Amino acid sequence: MKAIVLYESKAGYTGKYAAWLAEALGCQACALHAFDAATLGDADIVVYGGGLYAGGINGLKSFRSLLRAQKGRDLRIAVFAPGASPARDEVVAEIRDRNLSAEEKESYGFFYLRGGFDYTHLNRSDRFAMNLLRLKLRLTPEKKRSGDARGMLASYKKPVDFTRKKNLRPLLSWLGVIPEAEH
Ligand SMILES: Cc1cc2nc3c(=O)[nH]c(=O)nc-3n(C[C@H](O)[C@H](O)[C@H](O)COP(=O)(O)O)c2cc1C
Repeated sequence: MKAIVLYESKAGYTGKYAAWLAEALGCQACALHAFDAATLGDADIVVYGGGLYAGGINGLKSFRSLLRAQKGRDLRIAVFAPGASPARDEVVAEIRDRNLSAEEKESYGFFYLRGGFDYTHLNRSDRFAMNLLRLKLRLTPEKKRSGDARGMLASYKKPVDFTRKKNLRPLLSWLGVIPEAEH
């Protein structure tokens, strides 16, 4: 088994998971934008991670292009997507359905991992988008705000980091690196 972990990360949460994964798999983790596809070499497992931005997985399009160039190779592929939302089954299903084609859902492992949120680390367009979200959340009367909405609003003032090594266990067991019972 030879693996490679590719990722795109804006504030570092996905990058942190990618580094942990690479350590567990005994392989390299590379930012996709800086990756030369030729270095895929004889890897037979490719893991891609991209943070969630407005429901979409960052860099997934570029990852697909890289895979198209590897057509015919027998690769085991897993995709992980860190986001700020709590990891509820319905949230995970929605993200998977929105981002992966029927064919990809059938053959790829898909894993939603809780990342984090740091308002101070956003570029201009992301800051604008998140300001709109904050406005929307604030427009809901305080008593009617869900726990998630309250948590999100609080995270604008104080960055949150939900990344944990243990969140990678389902992915590692899907890859056969750790036994299922260890979840
Ligand atoms: C503009 C913007 C949109 C976001 N949209 C989502 C989203 O749709 N769902 C979610 O769970 N998290 C969302 N997030 C939170 C990010 O997915 C989270 O911060 C993630 O950990 C980012 O990973 P990265 O820093 O490695 O790119 C969003 C964050 C920003 C700044």
